[in-house]
Amino acid sequence: MCGIVGYVGNKNAQNFLISGLKRLEYRGYDSAGIVTLSADGEPTLLRAKGKIANLEEKLAKNKRDDKIGIGHTRWATHGEPSETNAHPHQAGNIYVVHNGIIENYKELKAALKEHEFKSETDTEVLAALIESFYKDGKYPLSNAVVQALKLVKGTFGIAVVSTKTPDEIVVARSGSPLVIGVGHDETLIASDASALVGHTKQAIYLNDGEVAHVTKNSVEIKTLNAEPVSAKVEEIETNLAAIQKGGYDHFLLKEIMEQPESLKETLRGRVNLAAGTVHLGGPGLSVAELRQIKHLVIVGCGTAYHAGLLAGYYIEQFTPEITVETVIASEYRYRNAYIPKDSVALIVSQSGETADTLACLREIKKQGIKTIGIVNAIGSTIAREVDGGTYVHVGPEISVASTKAFTSQVVAMVMFGLTIAQAKGVKPGTLRPYVEEIAKLPEEIHSVLDTVVEDVKKIAEAHKDYDHAIYLGRDTAYPTAMEGALKLKEISYVDANAYAFGELKHGPLALIDDRFFEMALLPEGDLYDKAVSNVQEVLARGGHIIAVTNVENFDLPVESVVKITTSLEIFTPILMNLVSQLFAYYMTIAKGYNVDQPRNLAKSVTVE
Ligand code: AGP
Repeated sequence: MCGIVGYVGNKNAQNFLISGLKRLEYRGYDSAGIVTLSADGEPTLLRAKGKIANLEEKLAKNKRDDKIGIGHTRWATHGEPSETNAHPHQAGNIYVVHNGIIENYKELKAALKEHEFKSETDTEVLAALIESFYKDGKYPLSNAVVQALKLVKGTFGIAVVSTKTPDEIVVARSGSPLVIGVGHDETLIASDASALVGHTKQAIYLNDGEVAHVTKNSVEIKTLNAEPVSAKVEEIETNLAAIQKGGYDHFLLKEIMEQPESLKETLRGRVNLAAGTVHLGGPGLSVAELRQIKHLVIVGCGTAYHAGLLAGYYIEQFTPEITVETVIASEYRYRNAYIPKDSVALIVSQSGETADTLACLREIKKQGIKTIGIVNAIGSTIAREVDGGTYVHVGPEISVASTKAFTSQVVAMVMFGLTIAQAKGVKPGTLRPYVEEIAKLPEEIHSVLDTVVEDVKKIAEAHKDYDHAIYLGRDTAYPTAMEGALKLKEISYVDANAYAFGELKHGPLALIDDRFFEMALLPEGDLYDKAVSNVQEVLARGGHIIAVTNVENFDLPVESVVKITTSLEIFTPILMNLVSQLFAYYMTIAKGYNVDQPRNLAKSVTVE
């Protein structure tokens, strides 16, 4: 996610801002900027696309001994990574840095006719809105910020300065963290405490709906309704690594556990529960274009491929007269595959830079087929080259093993499928169960993560000496089993492979012996009894089965059971995948391997 820093005191503001932004680099970003003010309010605004090193090149020619400023690392949400879209954004005397998403920025922007907008960002709209209350002296800075925030819908963590009063910073938060470091004759601002380590141990964590007026030796906090808030000064964690992982031991566990929140970002503004419909603006296909789609080709690698397989099963369930082909990009790019004209291709990639997937995209475009990106990294190469797209907005995924991206990729593609079905006139009654379950998924994920961790940890530790594993599932649990096997193999180096339950008799059953354990994904449903017969075939050959199930009275004589309690009936496999993610994590810990940077692998495979 983006990073915010701010400084007001007696030291050089540029130095703190740059060092603070470097502390926040781990959060992932694609542009950065700072603004500092001289004692008489002269601003020095420096912004650069890409890494902070690019910003430092500009700084080297623009050194100032200013004592106040704000800075930002941007993970693009509105408008691609560029210097123009980088924060801070200016409106008149006002400069703003912002984390979060202003959902109603378009309507706010339409009303701000006097401001000449230079960027595509929602943040510049916020700056102009604040300035509209500030410019004729009607409100002091703090009050102008409050007046503006009262009109905003969405999430924000902001820091604001004005050239008129170069001794104060106003900060506010709703849904995006901000912490105020209290120093000696200096006050520091950051979006997470890692930027404060080494400068102060005293910090005030702002709460949602609070606005703070900050000078070098004062912090005054109020609610947006002007009620005074007594500042609670806390001791901050001084272990940098611990802070950057959100208190978790590894990025992987942090990213597994933040899936309720990351999925909420994927769903934000896209689900109309009352109407039982979804709305995706990004693909940019008209109802007529959606209605004529008869074939979907879904392209990806690794986890992205598995997400496409799983989404494909769902899309076939509710969309009439459609064929879905999910393909491995590195294979498809060299096939002489014919794609019918009434097709659309979904190009799935967390990084948006995977070489094989990008090559496929370019091949498919040559056939004149519409391409829709299902991408996380805003402004990435794939995101720029597709005809339209839906960003999954899960924030940076640092750990090499993909987890939160998978969940959101599946849901984003299912929402695209629902968009097609809606256009084809599929009865709302058919689609509503999918929309309702999608809306509930974040809380269901939260509840599963709240309950299974200890059991999964114990079971993983009990299996740490195994080097071979078989993952099994039927129907939507089969691509889920494939994803679970990949998670385990890529970080614990266990030779894990997935098979459709129905395939066992066609060969894999010969494998069953004490070298292997079997992870059986057993969702309740029409195919449950068939899967039970397969489990019994494995048990009859001495299989060591771990069952993952939501069946209430599950009583098969397996070695271990992870029970999932959920009201879901359709997307249960997505919840089961959380178990596979946690199992892979704890197995790797038990084996003593590097969870976040497994051997031989990179986070983004930008070469063939
Ligand atoms: C997933 O855990 C792996 N790290 C890998 O398979 C990954 O999913 C694959 O390389 C595709 O990456 P992308 O989504 O960035 O295109």
